[in-house]
Amino acid sequence: MRTAAVTAVGHFLPEERLTNADLEEMVDTSDEWIRKRTGIRERRILRDPEKATSYMATRAAEELLDKRGIGAGELDAIIVGTVTPDMFYPATACLVQTELGAARAFGYDLSAACSGFLYALGAGAGHVAGGQCEKVLVIGADKMSSIVDYTDRSTCILFGDGAGAVLLEPAGAVGAEGRGLHDLHQRVDGSEWENLCQPGGGSRRPPTHQSVDRRDHFLKQNGRPVFKQATRRMAEASLEVMQRNDLTPEDVDYLVPHQANRRIIEATAQQMNLPPEKAMMNIGDYGNTTAATIPLCLHDWEPELRAGDRLILTTFGGGYTWGAGLLEWAYDDASIDN
Ligand code: ACO
Repeated sequence: MRTAAVTAVGHFLPEERLTNADLEEMVDTSDEWIRKRTGIRERRILRDPEKATSYMATRAAEELLDKRGIGAGELDAIIVGTVTPDMFYPATACLVQTELGAARAFGYDLSAACSGFLYALGAGAGHVAGGQCEKVLVIGADKMSSIVDYTDRSTCILFGDGAGAVLLEPAGAVGAEGRGLHDLHQRVDGSEWENLCQPGGGSRRPPTHQSVDRRDHFLKQNGRPVFKQATRRMAEASLEVMQRNDLTPEDVDYLVPHQANRRIIEATAQQMNLPPEKAMMNIGDYGNTTAATIPLCLHDWEPELRAGDRLILTTFGGGYTWGAGLLEWAYDDASIDN
């Protein structure tokens, strides 16, 4: 069986910043509350109504292709993890494909909320491991500002817009035999779906004047139970992956956690017996970008990563969806040797 390795990373963040001070003007909140309860200082917002998730996903992909030194025509597949597709269909992946000019790629979107990127990584790695694909573009991208209710202080302080992308290739094809995605543990539990959802717009509650009046098209979250489950499930999944791969905390070089709340990340690292500095954390600058958080962490830490580093990726999101994976990094510094 071939192993799929990450061979390049790309990202896109809109320039406009929405700070805690800005939010103080919009809802009854404070910079102190937001920092203390979440760790967030500011988030990026894609204000231009003409630009949607596919725009950010395409920019992240272009950066990645440039770094890897290949053309879009070499891509076999494009998978986009997102809960804010440009529209229900066509899939965002189709829009990215045509903007990039990825002439021979197939593609699809994957809906798993904050777990979208990790699940897409698993799907992409499967296409590579099974021999169907040589180059798979895996993107996590969300324009959360398009579904956030900026009159709801319990959710509007949390989310930001952004995109991150990785390229998956057979490890053997890039001189990184034995490296790549070694393990993935994934779960869903729909029994508490109402704690985190966007109730309107689908076939259950199609758009009507009433659904708009009820604000059904915005994200809803019951924070406390989601917090409890996220803390429990991310640690549980990470420990499962460590255990079945015989890894001690010393064997783990980095934890790459979904960025929903600083306190969830710290609790996860603690339960894994990892020192806090091993946990990647950039939530202060970007907030929760849903499917984009994990690839944005990989982008920000890429210059420090070394071939052979063992990364535990873990996530929890609406659904509920959660999981953890073991990724052995394939290259040094900021890019692989071509
Ligand atoms: N500013 C000031 N006060 C606030 C704010 C705010 N922005 N928001 C809530 N409060 C108040 C509440 O009204 C409440 O007041 P009360 O005690 O008078 O009723 C108090 O603060 C505490 O509220 P909680 O909801 O209990 O606050 P908590 O400490 O749980 O923090 C938060 C809320 C940050 C949302 C947290 O619950 C959380 O991070 N939840 C998990 C998020 C997550 O992991 N989501 C999954 C991924 S997202 C995805 O999949 C799309």
